[in-house]
Amino acid sequence: MATLYQPPEHVVKGAHVDSLAKYKDMYERSLKDPEGFWGDFASQFHWNKKWDSGENFHKYNFDLNKGGIFLSWFNGAETNVCYNCVDRHVKDGNGDRVCFYWEGNDVDQQTTTTYKQLHDQVCQIANYMKSKGVGKGDNITIYMPMVPELPATMLACARLGAVFSVVFAGFSAESLAGRISDSSPKMVVTCSAVKRGPKHIELKKIVDEILDNEEEVHVPTVLIYDHKASGVSREAIHASLVEGRDVWWQDVIPDQPTECEVEWVGAEDPLFKLYTSGSTGKPKGVLHTSAGYMCGAAATFNYVFDYKPDDIFWCTADCGWITGHSYVTFGPLLMGAKQILFEGVPTYPDAGRCWEVCDKYGVTLFYTAPTAIRTLMACGNQHVTKHKRTSLRILGTVGEPINPEAWRWYYEVVGNSNVAIVDTWWQTETGAHMITPLPGATPMKPGSATLPFFGVEPAILDDKGNEVEGPGQGYLVIKRPWPSMMRTVAGDHARFEQTYFSHYKGYYFTGDGARRDEDGYYWILGRVDDVINVSGHRIGTAEVESALVGHHLCAEAAVVPVDHPIKGQAIYAFVTLMNGNEYPPDESVRKELVAQVRKAIGPIATPDVIHWAPGLPKTRSGKIMRRVLRKIASKEEDQLGDTSTLADPGVVQVLLELRGK
Ligand code: PRX
Repeated sequence: MATLYQPPEHVVKGAHVDSLAKYKDMYERSLKDPEGFWGDFASQFHWNKKWDSGENFHKYNFDLNKGGIFLSWFNGAETNVCYNCVDRHVKDGNGDRVCFYWEGNDVDQQTTTTYKQLHDQVCQIANYMKSKGVGKGDNITIYMPMVPELPATMLACARLGAVFSVVFAGFSAESLAGRISDSSPKMVVTCSAVKRGPKHIELKKIVDEILDNEEEVHVPTVLIYDHKASGVSREAIHASLVEGRDVWWQDVIPDQPTECEVEWVGAEDPLFKLYTSGSTGKPKGVLHTSAGYMCGAAATFNYVFDYKPDDIFWCTADCGWITGHSYVTFGPLLMGAKQILFEGVPTYPDAGRCWEVCDKYGVTLFYTAPTAIRTLMACGNQHVTKHKRTSLRILGTVGEPINPEAWRWYYEVVGNSNVAIVDTWWQTETGAHMITPLPGATPMKPGSATLPFFGVEPAILDDKGNEVEGPGQGYLVIKRPWPSMMRTVAGDHARFEQTYFSHYKGYYFTGDGARRDEDGYYWILGRVDDVINVSGHRIGTAEVESALVGHHLCAEAAVVPVDHPIKGQAIYAFVTLMNGNEYPPDESVRKELVAQVRKAIGPIATPDVIHWAPGLPKTRSGKIMRRVLRKIASKEEDQLGDTSTLADPGVVQVLLELRGK
């Protein structure tokens, strides 16, 4: 039995949900009366037109046996997410309230932005976009680091009803190219360069690599923010600007008017798409719409972080990921929060940076990933304990299962055993938290994401697709839609239906395995598909394999996850070389293959191990037996299981001999 940790009294007192009984009542209502529950929450926002009451409020089909999959919420309503994030607070007299305390990569870099300043800047960006013909439904690609101009650009798009797609500024040129050509954006918004830790990354150069070389990619306007703090000067880049296409942000944005009319959009009009990896093919554009996403992001921010107006919130995620969308740009701004916007990394200039920033601003709510927690834990407690951290009330984690040891360190050392930990399970597709403790209500168990959020009805299925009742383990599915759920894969609804709804008819398939214990608590066991979770980032094995076979010496590749003490999982690649090559080949081949993956996807997809494989274990029908590869990668070859279906059982021995070579 896992130890129960009760929420500390000071967290319970005054919490929005201050007991398990209250959570249960609210949860039941959210399932029985979705319109009442979500309508009540949504009424704090501005609606240009209210939603239809009754049957039309929310519609869906979740069962492919009954026809195509669709879902909609707040039907009939019109709103604007940007208006609710920004204008609403200014109109309420909170224009002077701080929205962003920006902390740059280096310790001495900081700025402060108020809601009124954000409003003015968003209007200026939107006006410029309009002057370039951007309007409702147009696509915009954003490739920027964590500067305040990044969320401001996302909001400017939302203001116009333009659909933005943020590409994480750590992705390579090839990854960016794929996302740009999939969207045909009217504008790419980028930045001169960024300094991340001690390294400089020239983002504009990466954009140029694509736009100057790929014929099918035509982008009319590239807006470039001159990021002075990056240390790369405007002059250094200026010569490479393409006339008529490339424009310096600082030359055009400040001249624009600081008022810009809002485009009212329908509840189900698209807000953004965000590319994410799955088990097959290219990354897909997960499409989120306006009203449901808005309410989901705001409600989870409000309840899961038990947000109050005096709080100082800090989510360390980059806006290039869904966490940065929902818990940097949208959730906090929708609720009018004051937050830290952090450009740096937790270990620069030293492993005490996070706690130094927490003390500097009096951070009360802190949200990060297990990989960061494990990294900091490995650096030693002295980096934590030399800072006070007394302001912290709630510590959140997201992105991958947190091992109980890291959980306890987070709770005891960072939180002084006087905080609530919220282990939030969710996905790019879900838009907002799905299974998570509520800090004032849910007793915690280290390593468990605990109980479903309001409106979320999970289930566990066995191998045959039957629901497991009570305690048990299997595939994690969701039985009905929730407001912030993705609506489709951009441009490919059939892929949406196939990926999430064809495995188990009538359920949304999460791709995760889970266990439910005797208290009804969920324990996420990780991906059951061909997705590797490296430091909380999803990498499709198929993407890494296709990058590897893109190298002229690589005939075939098979990639599997292997446990890693800091990253959670690491990428382990078995590589077969073209005929005629010796094993092991020259060390330079390994380096080239690793470089090939970094170039195709980005440094986050760097394989930790390349294991030479003159042959791969295959069935007689030619299917690679990944189960066998996983066991070899994890050094568990004593547990290979049944290998009688292998076409050539001898390959296993050859692979074992080549391990470490
Ligand atoms: O496997 C789960 C893991 O991350 C996947 C979703 O990845 P992504 O769409 O990139 O979104 C990450 C941020 C929401 C899930 O399918 N995951 C996410 N949060 C947790 C988690 N696994 C265990 N515990 C979590 N708290």
